[in-house]
Amino acid sequence: MYYPEELVEEVRSKNDIVDVVSGYVRLQKKGSSHWGLCPFHNEKTPSFSVSAGKQIYHCFGCGAGGDVFGFLMNYESLTFPEAMKVLAERAGVALPEPQEGEEGRRGDKKRARLLEVNKEAARFFYYQLRDPRGEIGYQYLKKRELSDETMHRFGLGYAGKSGANLVQYLREKGFEDEVIKEAGLASYSEKHGLMSQFWNRVMFPIQDRNHRVIGFGGRVMGEGEPKYLNSPETPVFDKRRNLYGLNFARTARTGNMILCEGYMDVIAMHQAGFTQAVASLGTAFTAEQAKLLQRYTENVLLAYDSDGAGIKAALRSIGILREAGLTGKVINMKPYKDPDEFMKALGREAFEERIRQAENSFFFELRVMEGQFDMEDPEAKTRFHREIAKKLCGFSEAVERENYLQAVADKYFIAAGDLRRLVENYAARTGLAKPVERPKTSVKKRDPEENVKRGQRLLLTWISDEPALYGIVKKYVSSQDFTEELYRLVAEKLFGDLDEGKYNPAGIIGMFEEEEERRLVSEIFNTNLPKLETKQEREKAFHDVLLLVKKNSYEYAASHMGSDVNALAQVIEGKKALEELAKTHISLE
Ligand code: UTP
Ligand code: MN
Repeated sequence: MYYPEELVEEVRSKNDIVDVVSGYVRLQKKGSSHWGLCPFHNEKTPSFSVSAGKQIYHCFGCGAGGDVFGFLMNYESLTFPEAMKVLAERAGVALPEPQEGEEGRRGDKKRARLLEVNKEAARFFYYQLRDPRGEIGYQYLKKRELSDETMHRFGLGYAGKSGANLVQYLREKGFEDEVIKEAGLASYSEKHGLMSQFWNRVMFPIQDRNHRVIGFGGRVMGEGEPKYLNSPETPVFDKRRNLYGLNFARTARTGNMILCEGYMDVIAMHQAGFTQAVASLGTAFTAEQAKLLQRYTENVLLAYDSDGAGIKAALRSIGILREAGLTGKVINMKPYKDPDEFMKALGREAFEERIRQAENSFFFELRVMEGQFDMEDPEAKTRFHREIAKKLCGFSEAVERENYLQAVADKYFIAAGDLRRLVENYAARTGLAKPVERPKTSVKKRDPEENVKRGQRLLLTWISDEPALYGIVKKYVSSQDFTEELYRLVAEKLFGDLDEGKYNPAGIIGMFEEEEERRLVSEIFNTNLPKLETKQEREKAFHDVLLLVKKNSYEYAASHMGSDVNALAQVIEGKKALEELAKTHISLE
């Protein structure tokens, strides 16, 4: 981190989170929290809460959460040091000018240096492509029907067959080997020394919104693996938070953005006049990228490949767009594989027609789902209808749900009344307005112990709501009883603070650098506590939670102890503590 912890704490304590968030979201006080419409996803009824006591925010709808720094970072897409600057200024706290040689300064300097070396490398590749030695690369791009102007606009280049050239060139320009390596442009080998990463490939410089080269994609010419070689993540290349083509698309002002899968697709689209096209960077589309798009438009058109992988990717992206409150529509590319091929075959006007016909993402999802059921089989057909009902329950707003219900009923020849009954049935069983499921790219985490996790979370929320309870808790439960690693870290810090008479949940969230971790920690501090009327109910519930956490800890230890004698002693100890707790009455006075 750039700033000393005390300074971060000072800035935090002088920026009340309720005040800061109120500048962006209209909040209303209800109970111990302030509530409003979540700015991070689309909703009609408030599930976004800001707690003045804990100085954190949390959305019960989309799971967003964090401290005051995290809020600004998310809302304004700022880095931590940037958020620090804004808040320090707001509170009139003077930030020290970072000293030469200080960590932070080094970080800034390093980033600047990486951007410079990337720019110089892009220049090198650019000239290679236009050199007789790069003829093969140039011909390849020509064959793919890119004009000279397009190649120039995107700064396309060529990495020659002799990998040493780039390194030599950069060294002559005064770049240290360390920088060349850290930019992902070259790597060391015992035998050859520092060698260029990219070798005999056409090069796509990847630019950020401000046209700065942050990385590269290199395409093999013809067959070969990997087809695209991309720069690794570096301090200037964050693949989750950038989009290929956004440097041009951000000023296209067409009222929409077109999201493609590949670099070549983006280039072909721009060449045909669709300068609002962007693509993710060799990885799946992310929530951060959706937020980036959200700054420019509400309408995102998906121009994904028409094959199975493209459909799967589209389904996933639709979920992400929806959570960001964006309207997704899907452009049908058939019978062509992708926008690049479509454009070559049919051209601009045909594509404009496809944009007009783009399918509402909900209908797209249903159509894909339909393919998984045999509509000739009444049994399968019924299941399909139930699935439709289930999906309809994803619309939390009644009017919207009803509109979709009508449209779906018409489309699939189902009596609207029957479909409505299915929806009501499903809703009665599970509750309406479930967050829409999003297919995950990675393998789903095995999570058989949600109940236990919830117990651990509940206990932490309870203590963070009523820190005075810690005095009782610590007699029975220690941070080591939290078997979830993240929860244990939080418990260690929370309990450690309380032992010293301190209480700072926002500071605990602030310890975590990854946005995803901050979300999870904000969830820990915001688990819905059971509604408890009487003192007896409260005491019983509290006792149950303590017991659940303790029991799980004991079982976990017992099943992981192996043949260690000390572990055995601990487990026996744990068992005693558990039995003791089980029969103890806990009084919450
Ligand atoms: P595609 O294979 O669809 O690429 O992968 P494309 O842009 O259509 O390429 P051409 O037309 O065959 O030249 C889509 C995107 O996935 C990433 C790249 O970002 C590519 O643009 N990708 C693909 C990789 O990062 N590595 C690969 O090996 C393949
Ligand atoms: Mn392609």
